[in-house]
Amino acid sequence: MKKKVVKIGRNDLCPCGSKKKYKNCCRNKKKRTSIKEEYKRRYDIILKEPYQVEGIRKSGELLIKILDQVEEMIKPGLKTEDINTFVHEQTVRAGAIPAPLSYRGFPKSVCVSVNEVICHGIPGDRVLKDGDIVNVDITPILDGYYSDASKTFFVGTPDEKGKKIVSVAAESLKRGISKVAPGATLGDIGYAIQSYAESCGCSVVREFVGHGVGINFHEQPQVLHFGTRGKGVCLVPGMVFTIEPMINLGKKELHVLEDRWTAVTSDGSLSAQFEQTLLVTEKGWESLTPYEF
Ligand code: MF3
Ligand code: CO
Ligand code: CO
Repeated sequence: MKKKVVKIGRNDLCPCGSKKKYKNCCRNKKKRTSIKEEYKRRYDIILKEPYQVEGIRKSGELLIKILDQVEEMIKPGLKTEDINTFVHEQTVRAGAIPAPLSYRGFPKSVCVSVNEVICHGIPGDRVLKDGDIVNVDITPILDGYYSDASKTFFVGTPDEKGKKIVSVAAESLKRGISKVAPGATLGDIGYAIQSYAESCGCSVVREFVGHGVGINFHEQPQVLHFGTRGKGVCLVPGMVFTIEPMINLGKKELHVLEDRWTAVTSDGSLSAQFEQTLLVTEKGWESLTPYEF
């Protein structure tokens, strides 16, 4: 799943919500600039130029290459620290910078989150064991451009709970992505994710959200993984943001460990996450960190 097509006529209302015709608004090269200024002024959202999208896409290609290699390494007995070493070395070797390292004091180059860890797991001495699930979240900066993606892997043979939460988290991201198109809103994405995950008896983490990305690690807008259809900022071509739902098998409540980073489920239940960086296109969306799942 890489691209989706939605047709907007020249004379239809512009998807950006301006109430002008599409041809007199975002479809028009010159007038589009004003949308760009409007989004910056109203929401502090940086709509990306094609050359910037190309930079983020290149960063995303590197990210996915590294993530695929990490997938090959995952097996019982591997230390989470070994994943950090690998991601750090591959990132630097490609002439890129691992964004997590020293970001707001984060001590490592990648987030590795095992089982009940929701996100921001710090690689270290924890050893992966058969039946664990592990999320690896990578953010390289290549030529100044950030891309951000993660995947949850099985270690050895998963049990029923592991299979369920990973499948619900993956499908949650797919459903969120499927809503991305000019004219949709951020609330449409959040609603699609929340309604699906909750219908499976799982819960959606509220404290961590998707985000604009590309020029900086975390830009506007915030992309909530819960919400109401039709609410929130209207999507327009050139927006680049992550969708990264964190789904818990039990309750949504979390707490952060003494290290001030590691977020864990309060009830100790499993949590899984999938994340990609999406571009809103004229026709729908394109993933700048595409992978099959
Ligand atoms: N990659 C995470 C995200 O998806 C952010 C990690 S911040 C860090 O937004 F400091 F922990 F790396
Ligand atoms: Co992110
Ligand atoms: Co991430």
